[in-house]
Amino acid sequence: MKQICLVCQNVDCKSRGSEEIMKDLENRVTDKGLTDVEVRPYMCFGACQEGPNIVLYPEKSWYAGVKREDLDGIVGHLAGGPDVKRLDTIDASLKELIYQLLDTGVF
Ligand code: FES
Repeated sequence: MKQICLVCQNVDCKSRGSEEIMKDLENRVTDKGLTDVEVRPYMCFGACQEGPNIVLYPEKSWYAGVKREDLDGIVGHLAGGPDVKRLDTIDASLKELIYQLLDTGVF
């Protein structure tokens, strides 16, 4: 199944480097040959103070406060490795809300 890696590109996440993180992630996904992973920008997940935020869908994993040095672990996860638990810090109710929104096809 294709995994979509949504990287928030709204103001707060961008001010913390999400643009560079998205480019770096795209390059790493390509370099690793992960053809079933697509990196896409996202408008805002509503956790702006905790960004940069990345959500994997349809898997439904949320990584918050992502730094470039975290990308090794995230790409490892996308390649089938363990999830990066230390970046899973978002409140469960917000996660559920965003996952429901994504389930309705809002990308
Ligand atoms: S600015 Fe990224 S979650 Fe809102």
